[in-house]
Amino acid sequence: MSLLYGKRIAEPEVMNETMEVEAYTAAAAAEHLDRLDSACAAAIINMGARPNWWLDVGCGPGRIACKVHSLTSARIVGIDLAFNMVKKAKESTQAFGATSLYLVQADAAALPFKGGVFDLVYSNSLLHHLSHPVGFFEEAVRVMQNRGKFFLRDLVRPLRWKLRKHINFHGRNYLGSMRQLFEASVRAAYTIDETRRILRTTPLLDGYVSREDGSYLIIRR
Ligand SMILES: C[S@@+](CC[C@H](N)C(=O)[O-])C[C@H]1O[C@@H](n2cnc3c(N)ncnc32)[C@H](O)[C@@H]1O
Repeated sequence: MSLLYGKRIAEPEVMNETMEVEAYTAAAAAEHLDRLDSACAAAIINMGARPNWWLDVGCGPGRIACKVHSLTSARIVGIDLAFNMVKKAKESTQAFGATSLYLVQADAAALPFKGGVFDLVYSNSLLHHLSHPVGFFEEAVRVMQNRGKFFLRDLVRPLRWKLRKHINFHGRNYLGSMRQLFEASVRAAYTIDETRRILRTTPLLDGYVSREDGSYLIIRR
């Protein structure tokens, strides 16, 4: 399998460096990211979860949380391990005037919430940061209500011989440090089969894993 796909090259887990926070929010990529974020927010809304409490795991600068917030009456909690990302997310929330969006610095594998409180747990672009994602999936299921929904979107690692072409095509809107971050993220991403194997060892074993729009790995439950 690794012959076909090449080895996964892990990225540093948290994005706390000023360069990373700025690159991720830089104007060059802003328009492109905005479109991708809107598509993600729409897919999250389409899960049809009860609009009570929703959790955004690895919320980063809070752009998706703000978009989702504008489309639902649900109260949203965003968590991120990086202090600087949470700070940025708080600024975005204020600028956006989001009133039912709460931000907490926390680890996806040790969520500071009681069990069974969230109707929906979602996450965008977190999985590839995690070298041991089982703890995250276990925690996501623990804090979800019995019939709670789960949505995850992340990059997918392509076949080894398609890697360069994949990075050139899907990274065509990024420049400089954002382009480097994108390439590192693709190399750190999981394949569909790796993700299915991981899920089978977690309480989210009934999560449906698919590849969408060429570059994305999606899990829905
Ligand atoms: C690529 S960013 C995605 C941010 C946001 N979800 C988005 O789509 O714009 C990944 C985020 O996951 C955070 N992260 C990494 N490991 C984490 C962990 N164990 N628990 C919580 N957040 C984590 C990073 O700090 C970073 O903000």
